[in-house]
Amino acid sequence: MSEILKCEEITKRFGGLTALNKVSFNVVKGEIFGIIGPNGSGKTTLLNVITGLLKPDGGRIMLDGTDITKLEPHKRVKLGIARMFQGMRVFPYLPVYLNVELVARAVYNNARLARAKTSWALTMSGLLPEAAELPIKLTPYKLRMLEFARILVSNPKIALLDEPFAGLESSEAESMIDLIKKFNSLGITFIIIEHRLRYLMKIANRVMVLNQGVKIAEGKPEEVVKNPQVIEVYFGGETRK
Ligand SMILES: Nc1ncnc2c1ncn2[C@@H]1O[C@H](COP(=O)(O)OP(=O)(O)O)[C@@H](O)[C@H]1O
Ligand SMILES: [Mg+2]
Repeated sequence: MSEILKCEEITKRFGGLTALNKVSFNVVKGEIFGIIGPNGSGKTTLLNVITGLLKPDGGRIMLDGTDITKLEPHKRVKLGIARMFQGMRVFPYLPVYLNVELVARAVYNNARLARAKTSWALTMSGLLPEAAELPIKLTPYKLRMLEFARILVSNPKIALLDEPFAGLESSEAESMIDLIKKFNSLGITFIIIEHRLRYLMKIANRVMVLNQGVKIAEGKPEEVVKNPQVIEVYFGGETRK
């Protein structure tokens, strides 16, 4: 087993709030690693620390054997970390293809290669017919596909998806699952964040559970859902509030 990403005792504080408390986990090359936890448990913060948008207060992040804890976000992208944001970060008034091509140009210092990769990523995500449209005209599903194309175009080693199923109808979520599986089989490792278990159960090889910034469980999805602490967090807490 070779690890592509190692997070060691990651701690992140916002003032008096400890959003992540010594969270450690490894992601194995080629796997789909799920991160679940209730709202506010620190999932997005963890992704932000991995991509470099936030500096951790403690801990270390290794990508393929290289310490990236202090690297700038764009350097991490060049090393192969790509992410899909929770909510949209596309440019609404630039055509679909340009939204993808801008990412490609930042990654490849070669305009022709950037254009070729853009066509490929648009084709793979089924967006070729909408290439000239503005993102504001896309359905939520197509917008998500645009985010996916922006990830694919950088040819990542590891793709981080923050709630990729949010707001999708179930048939659309199934298509998203198929797409993730397809790219996983092509060699991309995934970290997928979800607050609901449902979709992750279908695709994740392993899941880690966060609660209030603390890792409370990790294992195969079918094991994790039987974990008493996880059941308490997911089904016990709310009824007592
Ligand atoms: N930039 C920030 N400043 C202050 N507090 C934050 C910030 N980002 C997140 N938090 C807090 O950190 C905790 C974890 O948030 P987040 O990582 O977004 O959780 P999740 O993605 O699991 O819903 C929450 O209590 C949230 O309010
Ligand atoms: Mg979040």
